[in-house]
Parts: sequence; C-alpha cells; structure tokens
Amino acid sequence: MPPTTLITGAARGLGAAIARHLGTRGHHVIVNYRTGAADAAETVRGIEAAGGLASSARGDVTDPSAVDELVTGILATHGRIDTTVINANTAPPPFAALADLSWAAFAAKVTGELAGAFHITKRVLAPMRAQGAGRIIFIGSTAADYVGEGRLAHGTAKSALATFARHVAAENARDGVSVLIVAPGAVRTPATAQVLTSERGAVLARESVLGRMLELEDVAAAVALAADPALGAATGTTLRVDGGWSVLVGGPAAN
Ligand SMILES: NC(=O)c1ccc[n+]([C@@H]2O[C@H](COP(=O)([O-])OP(=O)(O)OC[C@H]3O[C@@H](n4cnc5c(N)ncnc54)[C@H](OP(=O)(O)O)[C@@H]3O)[C@@H](O)[C@H]2O)c1
Repeated sequence: MPPTTLITGAARGLGAAIARHLGTRGHHVIVNYRTGAADAAETVRGIEAAGGLASSARGDVTDPSAVDELVTGILATHGRIDTTVINANTAPPPFAALADLSWAAFAAKVTGELAGAFHITKRVLAPMRAQGAGRIIFIGSTAADYVGEGRLAHGTAKSALATFARHVAAENARDGVSVLIVAPGAVRTPATAQVLTSERGAVLARESVLGRMLELEDVAAAVALAADPALGAATGTTLRVDGGWSVLVGGPAAN
C-alpha cells in the first residue's frame, strides 16, 4: 500500500509542486483545496499522467467542521493517513511596518496562519496516534527567523507556527508521530507573483550562496525527504531551504 499523504492547499503554488513530487514518488497524495477545484483537478491529472496516484478533496482547513469532513472522508477511503503537509496559504501577509499595520490585519494573519495548522493537526493526530506512526510537516518560512522590512505580521505568524509545531512534536513523539518544519525562502508562486519582481529576483539570486533563486522543485524535494519515516528521530526541528541565506554574515539584505 502506498503511503497516504494529505497536502493542504495543494491546488496551486508550492502545495501543488509538493503534491507532484510526492505523487510521482510512491505516495498517494490527497490534493486539498478550498476554492480551486479546477486547479486541484489539473494537479491530480498531471500526477496521474506521470504514473502517480492522487485524488482531490475540498475543505477549508480553517473550519473545524470542514476539516473533520475532509479527514473522515480520507480515512473512509484509505484507512489511514501517513503524512500530512500543512501548507495552505490561509492568511496572505499584510506587508507593513507596525506603524502602518492595523490590529485587524495583524490578527487576521496570525490567527489565520494558526487556524490553518491547529484544526488539521488536531484531527490527523488521532488516527496517527492510533496507528502508532505518522509524520506532520509544517511549511514555515525563513521569515520566522529573519527580520525583513514589512514582514512583522508574517514573521510573527510563522514563528508562532514553529513553536506550535515543536509542542506537537514533544507531545506526540512517544506515540510514533514526528514533526518537521520545512522553512523555505522566497519562491515564485501565485501568492508571490506581484512582490517577486525580476529586480527582487536578481537581489535574491545575488544574495544566495547558490547564485540563483530558489525554485519550487528545491522545496518540494526537501519536503519529500522530510516525509521519509526513517527521519522520525528528526522531530520538532526545522529544515531551512533557503539557498544558503542563513550562512551569509549579517544575513540577507531586507530590500
Ligand atoms: N511562496 C513563497 O515564497 C513562500 C516562502 C516561504 C513559505 N511559503 C509558505 O508556503 C505555503 C504555500 O504558499 P504559496 O506561495 O504556494 O501560496 P499560494 O500560491 O497562495 O497557494 C496557496 C494555496 O493554499 C490554498 N488555501 C488558502 N486558504 C486555504 C484554506 N483555508 N483551506 C484550504 N486551502 C487553502 C489555496 O487554495 P484555493 O485556491 O483553493 O483557495 C492555494 O491553493 C504557505 O504556507 C506560505 O506561507 C511560501
């Protein structure tokens, strides 16, 4: 039986790349989407055309009843969930300094990010603990550790997500469930299309020790490695996929 892997928000962007990578490397991937049914169907078709296994499943991961329906449906069909990748971009960042940030915009980012992790984590943990095995991968961000201009709300949310993930790791390790945070740097997706201009891309490439921008495939490949159950002892920790930014003296420039 191929492992059953749920990827939240996998209709497009990074989630779709992760789904393609895992779906063509032995996982049966469940491509979760909220509104993008056509994109999700296209992602599934692409995986199947490449000889992989995939299906799509609707569900707003910030809504506990939708999450329950989503996970109940997967369990009814597959009997288990081996890996869950918590990726959905539930709260796009308001890029602003504190002086220009409203409480509503800040709170929407932080609570949206955490709602997208809280409900699904809680729901998949029950069957994973009963199985005595499971892997949960949170898509964090280098923004959790690095102070860049306008990234106060996003960085705070991703930092809180990482803390949440570490607690989940500690609480569930003895029941066979392990947790990894994969923290990418900036990659081109529909969410970043407007801010990742070619000028910005050139800065990112210059400041990467790789000498190029990160690609979706770089991150998807890291998530596929992170999904290997043999890595279970690497729990509660972060795998940065940042093109080497963190090794630069003084860190990357904010602009
Ligand atoms: N792009 C980057 O540079 C970058 C860097 C570091 C980390 N990340 C993280 O990577 C993840 C994916 O980002 P992305 O750039 O690929 O975003 P994206 O292009 O906006 O795609 C996000 C996906 O999330 C889905 N989604 C949003 N809200 C949802 C909800 N409530 N329930 C279920 N699905 C939902 C969307 O589905 P629908 O269209 O169906 O609504 C969409 O398919 C995010 O966690 C982001 O913070 C991104």
